[in-house]
Amino acid sequence: MTEQLKMDEVQPRLLDETGQGAITRPMDRPEGALKVSGRATYAAEYKAANMAYGVMVRAAITRGSYTVDEASVKDMEGFLGVWTDHMIRNSAQGTMNTNPVQPGLNIQYFGQPIAVVAAETFEQARHIAHALRIDYTSEEGFEVDPETASQVDESVPVDQGDLDRAMADAAFTVDATYTTKPHNSAPMEPHASLAEWDGERLTLHGSYQMLKYNRNELADSLGMDAANVRILSPYVGGGFGSKLGIAPEAIGAAVAAKALKRPVRCVLARQQVFQMVVRRTETRQRLRLAADADGRLTGVGHDNWQSNLPDEQFAEPVTAATHFLYGGENRRNAQSVARLNRMASGSVRAPGEAVGMLALENAMDELAEATGIDPIELRIRNIPEIHPESGKQYSSRSLAQCLKEGAEAFGWQDRQAPKARREGEWFVGMGVASAARTNILMESKARVTLNPDGTALVETDMTDIGTGTYAILCQIAAEMLGLDPSKVTVMLGDTDLPPASGSGGSWGAASSGSSVFLGAKAIRARLAERLGCAPEALRLQDGVATGGNNRRPLAELMDGPLVEEGHIQPGSKSDEMAQASYGAHFAEVAVNSVTGEVRVRRTLSCMAAGRILNEKTAASQVHGGMVWGIGSALHEGVEHDHRTGHVVNDDLAEYHIPVHLDAPRHDVLFIEERDDHANPVQAKGIGELGISGAGAAVTNAIYNACGVRVRDYPATPDKIFPHL
Ligand code: MOS
Repeated sequence: MTEQLKMDEVQPRLLDETGQGAITRPMDRPEGALKVSGRATYAAEYKAANMAYGVMVRAAITRGSYTVDEASVKDMEGFLGVWTDHMIRNSAQGTMNTNPVQPGLNIQYFGQPIAVVAAETFEQARHIAHALRIDYTSEEGFEVDPETASQVDESVPVDQGDLDRAMADAAFTVDATYTTKPHNSAPMEPHASLAEWDGERLTLHGSYQMLKYNRNELADSLGMDAANVRILSPYVGGGFGSKLGIAPEAIGAAVAAKALKRPVRCVLARQQVFQMVVRRTETRQRLRLAADADGRLTGVGHDNWQSNLPDEQFAEPVTAATHFLYGGENRRNAQSVARLNRMASGSVRAPGEAVGMLALENAMDELAEATGIDPIELRIRNIPEIHPESGKQYSSRSLAQCLKEGAEAFGWQDRQAPKARREGEWFVGMGVASAARTNILMESKARVTLNPDGTALVETDMTDIGTGTYAILCQIAAEMLGLDPSKVTVMLGDTDLPPASGSGGSWGAASSGSSVFLGAKAIRARLAERLGCAPEALRLQDGVATGGNNRRPLAELMDGPLVEEGHIQPGSKSDEMAQASYGAHFAEVAVNSVTGEVRVRRTLSCMAAGRILNEKTAASQVHGGMVWGIGSALHEGVEHDHRTGHVVNDDLAEYHIPVHLDAPRHDVLFIEERDDHANPVQAKGIGELGISGAGAAVTNAIYNACGVRVRDYPATPDKIFPHL
C-alpha cells in the first residue's frame, strides 16, 4: 500500500509526539566506518569480469568540426575501439531538467568531449587517447570573452516601483559593482562509470545525485527505454551540482560496452572534470541600495551579468535571495547572459545565493558603514513583514534570532572600528552576513518494511552524496517505528528502488525524509489497528507498542513483515508561503598589513532550518558551506584562456580550494524551529544554506580589520595590500 500526501495542508507534528529519541540527536553515520576504512565502494572501484577501459577524448579547438582517424591508433597495443557520434555529444551536462546542448556534430568549446577510446588496460586507453589523430576544421568567429560578446540575452525579471527615484530621494545609498570568478564544483570523487549490458538491459555503476532523472537522461542519450536502465550509486563522493545530470563518461562507457559486448569502465581525470562537466558562471553584479535616514531600505536593485554556451537554458539565479531577504518597495533586477564558446555553466553549490549573497551581503555592510548603524541592527531593521515582491507570508523565519544569538555567541560586542585592532603586523576584524536559501519540496517515494523481530528496512533510490542521508532516513524510520537506530537498515542509490527526490537544491533530506515518514506512518496505522487503538494513541518504543490500555511487543502483534510505501508530493503550500532557511555567519580574520594576506581565525554560523534531523550531519553540512564560503571569498576562481576559452587551472593544485589551515575553527549553532508549511517532518533544507552569505562574512571582516573593501572576489592579497 502507499501512503500518499500532497502538501496542501499543515500537518501535525507527529515527530514531536514520538518517544524513541532517535531523531535530531547527533547520531554517527551508519556507513561512516565503511567509508573511513575504504570498504564503501565508489563507482571507479567496481570491477567486472573481462572489463575494458574507456578514456574520453577532448576537443583541442574552440569551434568547428572534426573527424577522427582510427587508423592512427588501431594497431596500438590493447586497442579495442574508438567511438565518436552524437551520443557522446548529447551527454555534455546541462541542467537537471533541460536537455543538454551540443547540437549537431560541431565543437562548441575547447575541451568538449568528442570521443571515447577503449583498450584492454587503463594505461593503454590513455595512451591511445593521447595518440589519436583528430583532423579539425576550425570555424572562425567564436567568442570567449564575456566583456565583448556579441550575443547577450537580456531580461528584467523584477521591475517594481521606481528604483531610480528611490536612489535619488534616499538619505543613504550604495551603488557598487561586485565580481565573482567562475567556480568548479570540485567534488572529491571524479565522475566515473562502469557500464555492463545484458542484452538490451544496461546496468551502470555511476556517481550521481538524482538517479530517477539520471536514468531518463541516460536512456534519452542512448535512445533506449528507461525501463532497461539501472543505475547504482550507493556512495557518492560529493556532487556539489556536478552530478545532478549525467556526465559524458556515462555515455562513453555505455556506448563502448555495447559495441564491445564487454563491461567498460570510464573514469574522468581531474582535468576532465574541470574541462567537460560544468562550471559556475562568472558574475558581475551591480547592487543598488536606497535607504531612509533610519537605514530602512526603500529600494533594492540587483543587476547581474553572466555567461553560458549559446543554447543553454540555465542561468545562475543570482538574485535568488535578494527577492525576499530584505524589504524596500522599489526593486529592479536585470540579467544579462553573454553567449560564449566556453564550457557550459550550470548548477554549482547553492546556485544563485552562493555568489548573489557575496554581493548583496557585502553591499549591506557598505550600507551599514554609510549609515553608521551596526550591521546586525541594520539587517534586523530591514526584515520585511511580507515578501516584498510577491506579497506572500513567510513560513518559519528565525533570521533575527540567528543574527542576535550568533552575535552573542561570537562575541560581536568586541568588534571595533576598522584598523582599531592590531596585533603586530596583523589587523584583526569581524564580519557578519545573513544566510538564506529557498526551501523546496520535491516528489519522493520510499518503501519501509517493519519485521516482527523488531528490525526495519528503508529502501529508496535516494542518494547520499556525503550529506548524511543514510543517517537521517534511519533516524526518521527508527523514531516513527519506535526502534533503536541500530535496528534499521537503509538501502539507497539503486534505480530499482522507489524513486526519490534525489540530492539537489537542498531538498533531499526533507523530501526523501517525508517519504520515509509517510511509509512508517502507514505501518503505525496498521499496528494501531492490531493493537485496537487509535493511531494518535499509539506509542512505539524499543520494539514495544502501547495504546488503549494495551501493551504488546511487536513480535506478538505481527505475523509477518509490514511493508508500506510513502509518497510525498509538493502541494499548494509551496506556492502559498515564502519558504526559506535562514542563518547568520560570523568571521574573524587577520589581514597582514604588509602583504595583504588574509587568515581566517574563527567562524561561527547560527542556523535555522526547521526541524534539525541530525545535529551532527546538519552541522557538517554547514561546516562544508563555510569552507566553500571561505573558498569563494579568498581562493577560488576558474581561469579561462583569453584566446581559446579553455580552462587553464584544471586541477586541484591550480584551482585553489581551502585546505585545513585555511578553514579553522567553525562553530555551528541551531535555532529550534519547526516549519509546518514545508512538509510533514517540519524540516527545511540546510545543505546549501551554509554557503549562502558565508563568503561575505569574510570580506566584511577584511573591511573591518583593515578598512579595505574588496568587491572583486576572491580577495587575493594583490587586491588588498596596494590599499593598505
Ligand atoms: Mo546542488 S548545486 O542543487 O547539487
